[in-house]
Amino acid sequence: MKNTLTVISIMTFAFLLYNCTGTKKATAAAPVLSTWNSNVQTVIMANCSPCHIPVKGGNKKAYDNYANTKSDIDEIIRRIELNPTDRGFMPFKHPKLSDSTIAVFKQWKTDGLIEN
Ligand code: HEC
Repeated sequence: MKNTLTVISIMTFAFLLYNCTGTKKATAAAPVLSTWNSNVQTVIMANCSPCHIPVKGGNKKAYDNYANTKSDIDEIIRRIELNPTDRGFMPFKHPKLSDSTIAVFKQWKTDGLIEN
């Protein structure tokens, strides 16, 4: 009798634990997509300035706005992945961007080039 009770208690406890785990999985947060406003803008302001930022005196194509960045994203990714000695490399006359910074542009493209 004592053994049966112990077995039932253990099984009840195991059942509760199993259920708790299941609940957590079901309510897991949806992945957050990257956007121009939250992810890309700050990277451009930090790395493509002043040349591509008109308010900072840049006279190259403006990438301080969503529309231009979106339409040129393939060319932007192509150029930042070149080697600094290659013709067309960006950021011009600067060290190559880190992998994680390059990944911000790629992830934005993968997520669908969202503005906000
Ligand atoms: C020190 C100045 C400077 C910086 C910083 C710089 N660029 Fe440029 N960029 C230039 C110049 C000069 C050109 C024009 C010559 C050329 O096309 O290679 C240019 C052209 C470009 C073009 C082609 C634009 C067109 O008209 O088709 C792209 C794309 C570009 N840059 C991307 C970037 C990105 C992205 C960054 C930041 C990660 C960056 N650049 C940082 C100077 C700069």
